[in-house]
Amino acid sequence: MDLHEMDRYIKSLIKEAGHRIRTSFRGDIEIETKAHVNDLVTNIDKEIEQLFIERINTDYPGHRIFGEEGFGNDIQDLKGVIWMLDPIDGTMNFVHQQRNFAISLGIYKDGVGELGYIYDVVNDDLYHAVRGGGAYFNDEKLPMLQETSISESIIGMNAMWATPNKYVEHESTIRLIRDVRGTRSYGSAALELAFVASGRIDAYISMRLSPWDIAGGSVIVREVGGMTSNFKGDKENLLVQDTFMAANPSIHGKILSEYIQPK
Ligand code: IPD
Ligand code: CA
Ligand code: CA
Ligand code: CA
Repeated sequence: MDLHEMDRYIKSLIKEAGHRIRTSFRGDIEIETKAHVNDLVTNIDKEIEQLFIERINTDYPGHRIFGEEGFGNDIQDLKGVIWMLDPIDGTMNFVHQQRNFAISLGIYKDGVGELGYIYDVVNDDLYHAVRGGGAYFNDEKLPMLQETSISESIIGMNAMWATPNKYVEHESTIRLIRDVRGTRSYGSAALELAFVASGRIDAYISMRLSPWDIAGGSVIVREVGGMTSNFKGDKENLLVQDTFMAANPSIHGKILSEYIQPK
């Protein structure tokens, strides 16, 4: 597998898909709900996933695809090359705001993240990484993350954290919200991972994410020295939904041990 050739191919495919999404703003978008009334999907989410699948099947036969909308393969193991794709991460933002969403893609070989992409479609900003080659924001190399502290950190989290929930002890997370400099909630896990990698936020924590939400971003975050895990501190399992955290290495362990007590 020639990673650099694949990298060029993927960048061009992502830009083409982004162009298709921007064009869709001019027409009618069909919106449906999935698991519940606030879980949205559109014809564009599906079309973009299908565009990737057609191209991958033609140009990379033998590779498998794990996509959110289910048009890819039935993935039960991580053998071989798997493209983990979220065609639109932040569908609610796509529908309501026409911004703050991304295409998210991670390429894994035998379970190891080799390539990662997060494309902020409206701003035409591509965050990308090849394992071992550093992470980039467009053509700019991202610096390694600098040491920070909890009191100087901005943490990405959604409003679930402010309500008692079944995943984590409420008292300790309220303490985290009080102790950090600020919290942010962008509504796209992929973009929040891109922001951790570029140092705009220092950690991103979520009670439940799927493999395609984190596959691309994890590769990028690790290239700048960031750490990724579930709330038990274990490496993410890309076959299941789980808790997830990506953070600057100087606060990752501290958030886990002092603030997030899984129930
Ligand atoms: C969602 C977004 C959101 C996160 C949800 C995800 P989708 O992805 O990343 O920020 O909180 O858990 O499901 O459904 O818009 O691709
Ligand atoms: Ca979705
Ligand atoms: Ca998603
Ligand atoms: Ca999605």
